[in-house]
Amino acid sequence: MYYPVDPRGNRLTVGLRTLDLKTWFEFDDEFEQEIAEKHRLDSSNAEVFAQLPEGEAGAAEFLELAADNLQNFHPERNKPFSSLTEISKVVQEDVCIMTKIGDDWVLTAAVLYAPSRWRLFDKMGKSLEGIHKPVPGYQEQIGEAVEFTFDRMTPDRSLWRANWTLLDDATRFQPTPPSPENQLRVAGADLNEQVFFRVERQTLRKMPRTGDVVFTIRTYVTSLGKLLQAIETPINMLEALKTMDDDHVEYKGWNTLKPALLAHLERDI
Ligand code: HEM
Repeated sequence: MYYPVDPRGNRLTVGLRTLDLKTWFEFDDEFEQEIAEKHRLDSSNAEVFAQLPEGEAGAAEFLELAADNLQNFHPERNKPFSSLTEISKVVQEDVCIMTKIGDDWVLTAAVLYAPSRWRLFDKMGKSLEGIHKPVPGYQEQIGEAVEFTFDRMTPDRSLWRANWTLLDDATRFQPTPPSPENQLRVAGADLNEQVFFRVERQTLRKMPRTGDVVFTIRTYVTSLGKLLQAIETPINMLEALKTMDDDHVEYKGWNTLKPALLAHLERDI
């Protein structure tokens, strides 16, 4: 289980590590269930798949790299696929293609079945800065570092990072953005059962032919109760909650969750 909760308290970090391409795609026993869910979601296609003309070459190169990677490291998984929506039934990851257009890295193609409270059509054609506009502090604190990473990374060193959040629903597909009115609903809830710890394992790979960056997102969801059983102490999470600014708490939809969870976790310390 990934538990990427920073012991130094809440802060926006780039936090990239070298990716071993053997683990570009991760498979687990939720595979069948996730793929079935993806088939069900295909009916709402505009929210799960989009491609601009500028993203076609990058998407095609990604499909070739993915087929090679599966053949090398997971041959039993390598079924034929010829589009982003087809490969999304072969691997559990979501995929975003980022293309350098002018000075900006722009989202030009994506297949997305596990948005964590964002809509694909709000982000298509936007730059890294534009995509992250709702994130308080993003541009001032890490915007340049992310841009620099995209510019400077090379095809021979791929990267990965993980982030986490808490939601009041275990569903992977959650496109509705939070707002001051749309906060998590936890009044009277058994937090262990009704709050979910959600980790995104994200990978970044610069592709040699097009120079586009493929960004994959793998989403893991577990109940807070199971998480608390698996970790020794919730002290890092408690610290993250305590040190998070009010605007970030509201951005995440945690206005009501934060006080309830602080009390809940403090009982465990
Ligand atoms: C090294 C690369 C990146 C870093 C360090 C980064 C960092 C972050 C951070 C810190 C957040 C806020 C998370 C939170 O507080 O819950 C965020 C949100 C987000 N990121 Fe990134 N990000 C990166 C690349 C990307 C890329 C390539 C995409 C392309 C689709 C992307 C899409 C998003 C979206 C859609 C959100 C939610 C924004 C919203 O609430 O509307 N990120 N990112």
